[in-house]
Amino acid sequence: MEKRELLYEGKAKKVYATDDPELLIVDYKDDATAFNGLKKGTIAGKGSINNRMSNALMRMLGKYGVPTHFVRELSDRETLVRRVQIVALEVIIRNIAAGSFAKHYGVCEGTPLKISTIEFSYKNDALGDPLINEYHAQALGLATKAEIDRISELAFRVNKELQAFWLSCGVTLVDFKLEFGRLNDGSIILADEISPDTCRLWDAQTGEKLDKDRFRRDMGGVEEAYREIMSRLETHMA
Ligand code: TMP
Repeated sequence: MEKRELLYEGKAKKVYATDDPELLIVDYKDDATAFNGLKKGTIAGKGSINNRMSNALMRMLGKYGVPTHFVRELSDRETLVRRVQIVALEVIIRNIAAGSFAKHYGVCEGTPLKISTIEFSYKNDALGDPLINEYHAQALGLATKAEIDRISELAFRVNKELQAFWLSCGVTLVDFKLEFGRLNDGSIILADEISPDTCRLWDAQTGEKLDKDRFRRDMGGVEEAYREIMSRLETHMA
């Protein structure tokens, strides 16, 4: 597979064209940002960990019937993926109160939620990715009702499988963010990444944070946390 021109550079990844118009190469960086790019840094080894973790989880989800963009891991940092039109929604599932949910609703971080929740943000850096509801998303033409229903169904299925997998690693899946894309035939598949950048992962015994919150909140031990969570995944991945 030949790597062609750089199509897009995001905060954590670069995306390249290939000689196949249906396929792209994603190249994961060690760069980390938070608060819509206000805070910048690097997390040594993150690119490789996020690439390999996201691929392992997407491979697993594929077996459970969740269609994903994953095609093939090319190197430590590079993966071949299916080209999609990204749906401009960040899809967030929560099992335990944390982050913006804890802040908005005045609940202590760590409070278990009575049901798992889904919410959407409008993927728009200039606006700071504002929360949006299903009606607003349809009104703005970001997705149809059928697409939002399908995305929600897939997101909850991802939650079920990821919760069970992380529990087997001694890790609590607190919350996470997904992005979906459309193929040319209109079908919806899981895209972007699933990694410690996009999930809250807490040690099930101690509650220790093993994710990007260590960077966002200047807690230290960031690289160690990424290495720890990756080693748990590698130990428990069937
Ligand atoms: P939040 O509590 O800050 O809204 O974050 C919810 C989840 O989404 C958490 O697992 C971190 C993830 N997330 C991203 O992946 N990208 C983002 O830009 C933000 C704000 C959160």
